[in-house]
Amino acid sequence: MEITVAGGGITAQAADTYVVEVTEDGGRLAAETTAVDTAIGGAIKQMIADGHITGRADEVTVLPGGRRLKAKRVVVVGVGKREQITADSARTRAGNLSRRLRDLNAGHVAIAPQETSSALEPGDAGRALAEGFVLGLYRFDRHHTRVQDRPRHVIDRVTIAEPAVRRAAAVRRGVEEGVILGEATNYARDLANEPANLMTPTIVAARAQQLAAEYGLECKVIERAEAERLKMGSYLSVANGSAQPPKFIVLTYRGGGTGRPVALVGKGITFDTGGISLKPAENMDAMKGDMSGAASVIAAIGALARLKAKVNVMAIAPCTENMPGGTATKPGDVVYAMDGTSIEVLNTDAEGRLVLADGIAYAKTQGAATIVDVATLTGAMGVALGGVRTGVFCNHDRTMSELERAAAAAGEKVWRLPLDAEYDDQIKSDVADIKNTGGRPAGSITAAKFLERFVGTTPWVHLDIAGVMSRSSDSGVWVKGMSGNPVRTLVHFALGRAR
Ligand code: BES
Ligand code: MN
Ligand code: ZN
Repeated sequence: MEITVAGGGITAQAADTYVVEVTEDGGRLAAETTAVDTAIGGAIKQMIADGHITGRADEVTVLPGGRRLKAKRVVVVGVGKREQITADSARTRAGNLSRRLRDLNAGHVAIAPQETSSALEPGDAGRALAEGFVLGLYRFDRHHTRVQDRPRHVIDRVTIAEPAVRRAAAVRRGVEEGVILGEATNYARDLANEPANLMTPTIVAARAQQLAAEYGLECKVIERAEAERLKMGSYLSVANGSAQPPKFIVLTYRGGGTGRPVALVGKGITFDTGGISLKPAENMDAMKGDMSGAASVIAAIGALARLKAKVNVMAIAPCTENMPGGTATKPGDVVYAMDGTSIEVLNTDAEGRLVLADGIAYAKTQGAATIVDVATLTGAMGVALGGVRTGVFCNHDRTMSELERAAAAAGEKVWRLPLDAEYDDQIKSDVADIKNTGGRPAGSITAAKFLERFVGTTPWVHLDIAGVMSRSSDSGVWVKGMSGNPVRTLVHFALGRAR
């Protein structure tokens, strides 16, 4: 599906479906809405007068196009009160609208977002619309081989009609950015939705290499032997039970001259069985998404390269399966991380922090100015914040503000949780420097406290995305399956650092 911006009125567009906006404020209709209304004999104004169209946010009314219009069909979208139009509400509305239009088999859609683009900066309006459509229409259907199982309805093309030439240029730039952000999120969704037999560490590494070749990134894959030389004993201990070779992926993007890089570290467990501390069978399949952190950092650095962001970024994705097996790590084993820290592995299902320990330690050897890690780390996160907000932990208030701004721009909700020193007691070990579980109380916090031990004084943000990893139904820009959250937050965070 291609999204273009046309510098003309909507009635000049040769499309199958026209979309125009109506607010809830009453008064004059936008010029583009009026133009379409006139061509269909005043049906919109009539329906407003009769109370059938109210302009309430997200109201959708479908009307026939008639002979005087190029389009077969007119869709009138309510955008609510003008002052309530935000980039976030516009993006969510576009997401919901995109699926309504697809259900209508809308073909080529021309849309005149006049109320939205005058309530927002035109660039923000273009970005919101593009993100809404690209994200809202995503589905993971590549393994349906029978045609009757594949969706038939489509949107082939979207044309945004913006008659004012200067605004059209700004909308176009917004659309280009929105498409890149949306596509990057969908790329992460694709990697995470893919079942674990088809997304092994080897395959993730191949995908990263492909992405690097496409967008001019540097890609280095640290194999098991090199990881051993680098003494990444914590990361490697998770791979012990698996027949699949572990791959520690490092992507580098240099857009910011000589500055120290922002390191994005993503948990890449391509399948988490729990290891010897085996998980119960029910819903274990969801653990194919346990590499969502890795997927999101890889996707984000790809988007930054496409955007030619003036910033230096590294994406670090320690990837491995977590399997039980004759050679698997056992509860009580002691392993050593790259920085020399000894860890008592009391529960092999707390493996995310073990791979991140070496991911973070590696980021420090690369001179990272800031470390942002992303991980489906603890089930406790979903208990605390559900599927709505990502839990954020941060050791540096200024960096926290940057992250909050980035998340707000993305429309990906976050909530800060504490890192009080008192929680350290829970991860004290009798036999090693630390242990990898802190018991049930404050499970997400003690996991973060574990990571903090490897961060030292570097400004650091930890995003625990276990709760927001997937969705069970479609809503706004979110669709059923793996969410691709927080790819756009990561991109905005790095863009905020651009020169
Ligand atoms: N990958 C899981 C966490 C998870 C659970 C992510 C549900 C997404 C949805 C993680 O590796 C894990 O198993 N964590 C344990 C930690 C515990 C053993 C300290 C958990 O949450 O039970
Ligand atoms: Mn686990
Ligand atoms: Zn896990």
